[in-house]
Amino acid sequence: MMRRIAVLTSGGDSQGMNTAVRAVAKTAMTKGIDVFGIKRGYKGMLEDQIFEMSPLSVSGIADQGGTILLSARLPEFKDPAVRAVAADNLKKRGIDGLVVIGGDGSFHGAHYLYEEHGIKTIGIPGTIDNDVAGTDYTIGYDTALNIILDAISRIKDTAISHERTYLLEVMGRNCGDLALYSAIAGGASGVLIPEVENSIDDIAEVIKYRRSEGKLYDIIVVAEGVGNVMEIQKELAKKVDTSIRVTILGHVQRGGAPTAFDRILATRLGVKAVELLVEGKGGLMVGLQSEKVTTHPLSYAWENYHTKTSFNDYAIANMLSL
Ligand code: ADP
Ligand code: F6P
Repeated sequence: MMRRIAVLTSGGDSQGMNTAVRAVAKTAMTKGIDVFGIKRGYKGMLEDQIFEMSPLSVSGIADQGGTILLSARLPEFKDPAVRAVAADNLKKRGIDGLVVIGGDGSFHGAHYLYEEHGIKTIGIPGTIDNDVAGTDYTIGYDTALNIILDAISRIKDTAISHERTYLLEVMGRNCGDLALYSAIAGGASGVLIPEVENSIDDIAEVIKYRRSEGKLYDIIVVAEGVGNVMEIQKELAKKVDTSIRVTILGHVQRGGAPTAFDRILATRLGVKAVELLVEGKGGLMVGLQSEKVTTHPLSYAWENYHTKTSFNDYAIANMLSL
């Protein structure tokens, strides 16, 4: 019977991580399980920054951006010897279950802790990037998407006034989802994503066509994974005569209160993670697929990542950009 579990947040923070921490802690406490918070992800696990949580620790955080547990990156966690020290810090407290909230990098760490040390790990996908297979949506993605949509609307106003072309760089690491779906929902004039070969010539043609139709502005959403947006600006400037400006949205995309969608997603996945631990399971991730909460081995997250991109949606974005 699982008596003690721990929870940590790892990698880039995302809106809704706190909501997930709350769901994990409250669900476990309701079942009579002691809950420990680990500060600063795997770094805190290694450095023994582990504290017992109380209901008060998670009170009032469902709507708070960031993560009360703090987050960090620890590249050394790829070293089995480092993981062994970190695992011992859990074992000496009698903690045998661990919920890891993060992206696929964090899931790798959780996978090894399970395989090498038998710690029952459950991964909850928390990242704005939406780059985890085994879930249709990662926690934070919807909030970040809405922040980008707000930015597109604001940029559109000034773009029209000055009849400009804007290149709007958004986050997502190697995943184009934030760019693609903000382009669709924001009515953008084009989108560049890392999953397809991008052509500056094609974007130039779109701009020329739009201007010939009397349209006064263009907003091209550029996923950061495509490459240097300043270089793209230079190349594009050789092919069109509109004034081109670059906006890099940056970490604004990671802050603020989570949307209702992200809060509900975080809650459902947090509850499921604890249920799996109570059933004695580990080495798994939870996700939401076709409106159902699902589970897969942690490795599913990265091994099946290539199946995620919708090329049909990419075609739709381009069709509507004219
Ligand atoms: P995310 O979890 O959002 O993908 P990162 O890729 O930065 O973010 O990973 C977060 C942390 O997970 C890393 O700093 C490291 O501690 C751990 N991690 C990443 N990749 C591995 C790996 N291959 N093996 C073990 N731990 C890893
Ligand atoms: O993984 C989330 C993310 O925001 C990516 O979209 C981005 O590439 C990266 O983290 C930025 O990392 P940092 O917070 O270290 O600048």
